[in-house]
Amino acid sequence: MGGMKLWASLASPFVRKVRIVLAEKAVPCELALVDVAPAEHAAVAANPLGKIPALVLDEGATLYDSRVIVEYLDCAYPHPRLLPEHWRTRVEVRRWEALADGVLDAGVLVRYESQRPPEQQSAQWTDKQLGKVRRGLDAMEAGLGARGWCVGDGYTLADVALACALGWLEFRRPGGIDWRAGRPNLVRHYEALLARPAIAQTAPRERLDSP
Ligand code: BEZ
Repeated sequence: MGGMKLWASLASPFVRKVRIVLAEKAVPCELALVDVAPAEHAAVAANPLGKIPALVLDEGATLYDSRVIVEYLDCAYPHPRLLPEHWRTRVEVRRWEALADGVLDAGVLVRYESQRPPEQQSAQWTDKQLGKVRRGLDAMEAGLGARGWCVGDGYTLADVALACALGWLEFRRPGGIDWRAGRPNLVRHYEALLARPAIAQTAPRERLDSP
């Protein structure tokens, strides 16, 4: 039994979601850093899709993607719970997670598009993706309102997913987007979430030796 291993990068917001959940639950897990840009890399053995995060369990089985992994972790290590017991509230948390992850998916596409040769880039495609990012952020701003938490009266996976999305947008700034502008509720909540060690200690970084 070698313990769990998470195939990871320090920049991925989806890996960060899993790392935050592990840290909140104080679950030890080896981090195996991998560059998934090449077609072939070590994490392909754990996830045929070649994506991270992928979690290798003690018994050797592997789990992916981040939503499946956090579901597993919340059931296997239930203290503290990050997914509510009641199904209706749990679905609401997962809707927030889908929104945050969807904003990230669109933001990541904008970043990839900007890395293509300039003559192959499509401004129309980029604008379409940025529209999803802006609308998603506006929905988060309105959904949060003046409340202290995304769902109910406590910290859940919804807040974790939100922090990962906002942190990554600030880190990469796809399309030059400034998520803070005109979104005071998100600014307030994000600043409050940064006080949690699990969130502060997993801020996105390029490499281990980068700030
Ligand atoms: C990034 O380097 O920004 C990144 C890595 C993996 C997934 C998404 C983004």
